[in-house]
Amino acid sequence: MRQYFAAKAEHPGVLLAMRVGDFYEFYGEDAETAARALEITLTARDDGDNRVPMAGVPYHSVEKYLARLVGQGFKVALCDQLEDPKQAKGLVKRGVTRVLTAGTVVEDSLLDSSRNNFLAALCLHDGKLGLAVLDSSTGEFAVTQIEGEEMQQSLLNELARISPSELLVSEETQEFGDLASRGLGSAVSCIESPRADRAKKTLLRQLGASHLEGYGCEDKPSAVIAASMILTYAEKNGLQLGHVDAVATYSVESFMRLDAATRRSLELSQNMSDGSRRYTLLAVLDQTCTSMGARLLRRWIEQPLLDVEAIRRRHDAVGRLVENSAARFDLRESLKGVADIERLVSRCATGKATPKDLAALRNSLERLPDIAASVRPVAQGRLAELGAGLLDPHELLSELQSALNDDPPLSTREGGIIRSGFDPELDRLREIQRSGKKFIAELEAAERAKTGIGNLKVGFNSVFGYYLEVPKSQIAKVPAEYIRKQTTANAERYITADLKEQESHVLGAEEKAIALEAELFLDLMQSATRHSRRLLDTSQALAELDTLGSFAETAVRKAYVRPEIVPEDVLEAETVRHPVVEDAEPGFVPNDILLGSLEPEEGEPQTRTIILTGPNMSGKSTYLRQTALLVLMAQIGAFVPASRARAGVCDRVFARIGARDEIALGQSTFMVEMIESANILNHATERSLVILDEVGRGTSTFDGMAVAWAMIERLAEIGSKTLFATHYHQLNALADQLPTVSNFRVSVAEVGDQVVWTHKVLPGGTDRSYGVHVAKMAGLPPKVVKRAQEILSELEEGASAPQVRDIGVAKLQLSLFEMETPEVIRELEGLDLNQLTPIQALSLLDEWKSRYAKRP
Ligand SMILES: Nc1ncnc2c1ncn2[C@@H]1O[C@H](COP(=O)(O)OP(=O)(O)OP(=O)(O)O)[C@@H](O)[C@H]1O
Ligand SMILES: [Mg+2]
Repeated sequence: MRQYFAAKAEHPGVLLAMRVGDFYEFYGEDAETAARALEITLTARDDGDNRVPMAGVPYHSVEKYLARLVGQGFKVALCDQLEDPKQAKGLVKRGVTRVLTAGTVVEDSLLDSSRNNFLAALCLHDGKLGLAVLDSSTGEFAVTQIEGEEMQQSLLNELARISPSELLVSEETQEFGDLASRGLGSAVSCIESPRADRAKKTLLRQLGASHLEGYGCEDKPSAVIAASMILTYAEKNGLQLGHVDAVATYSVESFMRLDAATRRSLELSQNMSDGSRRYTLLAVLDQTCTSMGARLLRRWIEQPLLDVEAIRRRHDAVGRLVENSAARFDLRESLKGVADIERLVSRCATGKATPKDLAALRNSLERLPDIAASVRPVAQGRLAELGAGLLDPHELLSELQSALNDDPPLSTREGGIIRSGFDPELDRLREIQRSGKKFIAELEAAERAKTGIGNLKVGFNSVFGYYLEVPKSQIAKVPAEYIRKQTTANAERYITADLKEQESHVLGAEEKAIALEAELFLDLMQSATRHSRRLLDTSQALAELDTLGSFAETAVRKAYVRPEIVPEDVLEAETVRHPVVEDAEPGFVPNDILLGSLEPEEGEPQTRTIILTGPNMSGKSTYLRQTALLVLMAQIGAFVPASRARAGVCDRVFARIGARDEIALGQSTFMVEMIESANILNHATERSLVILDEVGRGTSTFDGMAVAWAMIERLAEIGSKTLFATHYHQLNALADQLPTVSNFRVSVAEVGDQVVWTHKVLPGGTDRSYGVHVAKMAGLPPKVVKRAQEILSELEEGASAPQVRDIGVAKLQLSLFEMETPEVIRELEGLDLNQLTPIQALSLLDEWKSRYAKRP
């Protein structure tokens, strides 16, 4: 108990689990917390005069419980026995061997193979932000330094992209920690940030290098400080990082910047309804065959490129794999058996690999020649580079092949890992076992002959090992040298000196063999670790081949085409589909999009802004999203769902689709919308694509319309390519005033008084909204629908407020208090003042005034 609380004091804020026998136990408050979080029984244990709460989990399934605790944001320290209990005198020595936190788990069972698990650190030094990111399960380590006027915004975008499981902040960057914990659900810890010179030493020590030039961060002290924060934290938590021998410096400028709201709106890797990856771009595009490829694909989707040449290189590679079906098929088939080499390497480096892991590594390496051969017919450009990047580590492979059994066990406790013929000593021990066992087996016949006891048997139990069993009826024939050990119902059990000698040979050899196998296995693991650089380079090449192959496969299956990337700032595409909706909607109606150059060489000004109107459910939001997705897909190097596409590179895509409830954060929908809109207006350039869906609907009609109007004017002035979907058909008037603004509508057909959606986008505005039709379809009572129709026609005829139905003069003359509760009172009763912002309150008052003030 004292041991426990001493260890606990050294690790504040961490749940401590102590190994006791076959259990990991929590005590005191930790026991209460763990019992609640894991739904396990809380018991108590005597400690002197006190009863201390206790909860325990069996050690063999501890990972399952750890995963749940870490998943709920706890940190858990494992306090293990540091000596063999059998040999310990007195109390077994124990100590914390590892602290598990969300960002530092490498245990396979705690990780999702299709996504990275990032630990990030953030610091501010000399007015510049430093960000470091580590996935300890794959060994990827990257840093960047962010500066300039927009650095805070850039950082938030970058954090949203990375979505770290755990974020380390320094005192100066704590505010970002709060944002990340609220917005991204990251676990956040505030730690000290070291001085620049000390940070550099820490990083150099990790890299085993003498200077940082080769890593590109020699003149980025903030990045280096952030990197060292991660290394120090990892060391403190007992995380081994032997495999992390390189750091990559990157720049946020080389990728398209996508803010958090845009990622959310476009449902890139998480959908807006349940946050899962179903119905997302990622789900549609993912035809990868390996976990490494799945992770890289996710990264590419989150980081579209800006460099025309880089984009074309990916398109070239995808194109070749699309055209050469045999190569694509071979590549994907040969990738299918490849294990997660990145994570295997990291498990080797941290000493956590199992014999099965090494067998998986061997089997994967055996496939490299096939994979290389599969891309040979298409080996040009990037594919040639990647083919050459498959560095087959011959020595390691042949070592694994000669050492490891075909199908070794999961643990090193039972032997059976190493092939015979690999190690002479092991073979000798196995021979002793075999001959001892043979002797014992033959003993039965020999003793029967010698003693004349026909049904004498040799048996084995764990209490006293091998024995000779004689039925009670034959006891008289038992020779004197037999030593009686046990009596059972029908028989007596004996041992002999000879038998015990052979037994000790067998058992001794067995124990030694198991120990030797474990040692040989450790050597293999170290060999693999020594090759980690090569293995990691190879796995990167595999990941990229897999991702390109996945793009090609999707393109073929779904009839996507290669987009032409051009220097002009245009966006032209024919029969575009929404990649996700078209899967769900068999009768999907494709539409064209045409946004012309801002400075056409000749002729009329071209459309840069589209105001899209149309009834509810007609497909406005879908059209907006598919346009943005087309641009993103093109810039990640994928083919696109259209029959033809030609596009200039966009520097940023902004998308705001679907209002999000931020009441929990104390902001009204309208307020959020305005903050986000301000962000767009401040950052959009003429190279940007801006997609706005019903901006302004969170407030009264006229306010909303006015704001929308002014925004469109401003975006047209900037020259961004803009799509604006709205129910305010009054905005159509803008097209008459601004040469680059055009009206489009999603058309509907009217059949009798029924409305049929055609989902076709046509030039021109709308003057009706069909909201009442939709209300009817949704099942609003017929009476209400009829009344709504009446009011609608009155409004359309220009009445400022519809007349109250004739409900009889007498009733109108009743005093206010005698009437049925008036509407305004009912609305007041229904209001929750705690959820109303001042702006909402004002606009509500305004609405009521215009609604009720003119009544008789
Ligand atoms: N081009 C299309 N072809 C076939 N079905 C479509 C198409 N576009 C949209 N749909 C279908 O119509 C549904 C509604 O589309 P969407 O949400 O884009 O409409 P909307 O005009 O934005 O509606 P609201 O005004 O209510 O926001 C989609 O879920 C989809 O099932
Ligand atoms: Mg919509």
